[in-house]
Order: sequence, then structure tokens, then C-alpha cells
Amino acid sequence: MCIINMKMKNYVHKNLISFKQVDEFDCSNVYAPLVNAMRAYKDNPCTGFHIPGHNRGQGVLDSFSSLVGIDALNLDTTDEFDNLGTLFPSSGAIDEAQKLASQVFNSKRTFFLTGGSTIANLALAFALTRPSEKIAIGRNCHRSVLSGMIISGANPQWIMPKKLDDWAIYGALNPVELQDRLEKNPDISLVWVTNPTYEGVVSDIEAISRVCHEFDVPLIVDEAHGCLWNFSDVLPKSALECGADAVVHSLHKTGGSMTQSSMLHISKNSCFDVHKVEHALKLLHTTSPSLLLLTSLDAARAYLSSDIGKSAIENAIDNALYFRERASKINGVRVLNALSNVAFDVTKIFIKVEGLSGKRLESILELDFSIEIESASDEGILILSNIGNTQQEFDVLLNALEKIASSNYPDLAYLEGIKFMPLTAPKVVMTPREAYFSKKERVKKEDAIGRICAEVIALCPPGISVLLPGELIGEEHLPYLSDFSEIDVLVK
Ligand SMILES: Cc1ncc(COP(=O)(O)O)c(C=O)c1O
Repeated sequence: MCIINMKMKNYVHKNLISFKQVDEFDCSNVYAPLVNAMRAYKDNPCTGFHIPGHNRGQGVLDSFSSLVGIDALNLDTTDEFDNLGTLFPSSGAIDEAQKLASQVFNSKRTFFLTGGSTIANLALAFALTRPSEKIAIGRNCHRSVLSGMIISGANPQWIMPKKLDDWAIYGALNPVELQDRLEKNPDISLVWVTNPTYEGVVSDIEAISRVCHEFDVPLIVDEAHGCLWNFSDVLPKSALECGADAVVHSLHKTGGSMTQSSMLHISKNSCFDVHKVEHALKLLHTTSPSLLLLTSLDAARAYLSSDIGKSAIENAIDNALYFRERASKINGVRVLNALSNVAFDVTKIFIKVEGLSGKRLESILELDFSIEIESASDEGILILSNIGNTQQEFDVLLNALEKIASSNYPDLAYLEGIKFMPLTAPKVVMTPREAYFSKKERVKKEDAIGRICAEVIALCPPGISVLLPGELIGEEHLPYLSDFSEIDVLVK
């Protein structure tokens, strides 16, 4: 349905700017109102006396302008013009783009964000949790969730997901364990889980959601790494379809939007007050959201729901399966496959090569083969089969792995005694907020053993905590603290 001309009229500021007719868009399933509005903005420059001061690229270093391209600078604007709309409150083309995203993701309300999924988690915590309230959280959560706990003062009740010792990563969260925790702690008021894990391991969100409903406790799913799921039947079901109340998507991670752009969805049957969440976002979010980032979210939504986008996702899945099959036939290479009958995200490929730590394998791939992978951990590396990858690229990677597996690359001795993926169970002494705002001192790492941590130690990626404010520091943490010489601890 072609609705742009009528709608565009509403976006044009009555007196300030008048636009050319916008007619260069496809009226099929790739309608992208914000993309269209931005094109009109670009094609109809007016004399500007406003932020940003570079004024469509006129006031920047030449080499920067030629590096990023004048078009990018031309489009670097914020939500202060009626023709584009505003983010908070949602209006104009931005509002229409958010509503289209909400339709596609089947949510009650979808918010576009320019502060990554970090801002979504902070706002959810700010809006929905209170000081001392008990919140059940999977320990493999991203540090933004626990920053949210510091902001709100809530009392996280950590649930340890299964550890895959062989791979040195976290696996799924067990719904039975959650049930047990809720039975023993009837005062838990919210459950917050991360799904999938960074490495693609999927928890049974339908079962987790059933447990939450049984106990009448709402569920937030940080699905930062699962934003493609809504667009494919082969990938796992999104938590939006499994009964979660709010779902966070880092569209910029795998959905093709620009870095820092994310979406927060309040699901159709959510018990959350949308206005509370919106209010928290309004307080925490930048008041100058980049229109370029917001537009990239509109473009990503339109692309992923178009036929061409769907075939890009199919390609990503096919490439992943192609790579998985061939890589698992290379002597010395192991590929992490589905661990249960819960659907697996095949596009996230965690592999290891015998005799090499993940970090060492990463550096060999980078230095000797000019291949950059997503991340490396103690045992293996994470490769993403993206909508932007080709099978030829996977062939390059397969060739490199064959060479590496048949050579005698030594592992790095200096990595001995250093660990990257924190799988330690926390010993909690007080809430993160209590500790964060207590009197602290900085001590040598070795002297910190037995003291109460006063800072967040959660290196990215994957941003999973080694230690949080309020947790007892033990010998077991030392291997994860190689980057630290001193640590903030509570004054005795
Ligand atoms: C599970 C999870 N949630 C949230 C975030 C934060 O996302 P962003 O980098 O978009 O702020 C990350 C980042 O890696 C993540 O892995």
C-alpha cells in the first residue's frame, strides 16, 4: 500500500521547510518512512543556523569529510525538525517507523534507541525495579543489566546457567532451577534472562515463561543477539512469541542497522506499564538522538522483512550450515552444535582447534590470514554467519583453519594462568548499589583477596561479570584480573 505522499505532508514543517515530492520509494514490503524523510531532508537543504555546528559537513576537517563522505555529514542531524519527527515523544516519520517495527516484531510498543541495548536494559531496570526488590537474573547477563541494578538499588538473585566446561562458556538456563528459586523466594518480583548466549546457546524461553506465569512474575529477555529470529522459521522463536513481557534487540549486532542502534519491545500481552518504560527512556536516553542511527533501524526493519532481506537471512543460515559441516570434518577442529532439542542459533558458530586457546587462534587468524572473527574466549572462537557474509568468505576461513590445524602452531605461554570467560559463582555480601555508594579504597590486586569488591569488573566482550560491587573477592578471581593491577574495594 502506498501511503507515503499523504503521510509526508504531515511531516513537513508548516513554514520552515518545503520538500520536493518524494516519489523514489518502493511501495512493496520495503516501505521505510524514515529513510524517505531523510532523503527529502538531504535533497532539500535550507540555510541552517542550528546544531550540529558543522552544518552539513561545512565545518569539519577535510580529511574527515572525505573519509566518511559528505553524504554522511549531510545526514548527521537530530530529531528537532518536524519533517523527521521526534523520538521522545514519538512523532512524525520516527513514530511511523517505530510503529512499523512494532507491527513486524508483533509488539505492543517498540522503541528505537541510539544508546545500544545498554540503554534499554538501564531503562527497564530504572522503570521496573525498586530498591531492595529481589530480581532473579541469569549470571551471564550483560553488564548493562547490573548497571541497572546499581541505578535502581534492586537486589539481584543470581541464577547460574549451566556451564559448558569443555567449551568454557555458559550454556542454557534451566527452567526447573528457576522454578525452584521462585518457590523458595516468593518475594522475587521479576525474572531477567539473556537469550541466546553470545555463543548462540538457547534456553527454553517458552518453559521459562510458563514458570514465570505460574508464579505471576514478569519476564524480561535480553535477546540482544537474537534480532533475526523474528524473520526466519529456521532460527529459534523470539521471546516476543514465547510470553516474555519485554525484549531487547541489538539490531546493530546482527540485524544490519548501524552501530549503537537498538530496539526495545514491550510485548503484546506485557503486564508492564509502557508509559513507565517510556518515561525512564526519556530520562536516560540522549536528547540528541542521531537521525542516521534511527534511520538505519527503519532501513534494517524494512530490509529484513523484504524478500531480499529474507533471502539474505537464508543465505546466512545456509553459509553457517555449510561451514559447520566442513569445519567439523577438519582434523583437530571441533564445532559447538545443538546441545538439546531446544532450537539452536546456527549462525553463531563457536569452534575450537586442538592445542590452541581461543585467544591464540584469534591472533593467528588475524596476523597470518587477515581474518577477523567476532570474539575469542579461553577454549574457542566465535564466528558469526551474518546477512552480509558470502560463502566465499567462509571458504577463506575454512582454508585457514585447515592450514592452522595441520601446522604446529605453539600456544602462547604467557596466556597460561589467564582466563577470559568468568564462570565463577558470586559470593554476595550486599547489593551492588549499597557497595557502589559505600566508602571505597583502591588496593593492589593481591591485597584485594578477602575484601568486598566496590567496582564492576566485566570486560567486553562478552560483558559478563567477573565481580560486582558487594561481592567477596577470592583467589578464584585472580586469573580473570590480568588487566588489573589495582581494584576498588570497600573500606573495612
Ligand atoms: C546480551 C547483551 N545485552 C546487551 C548488550 C549491550 O548492547 P549494546 O552494545 O548494544 O549496548 C550486549 C553487548 O554486547 C549483550 O551482549
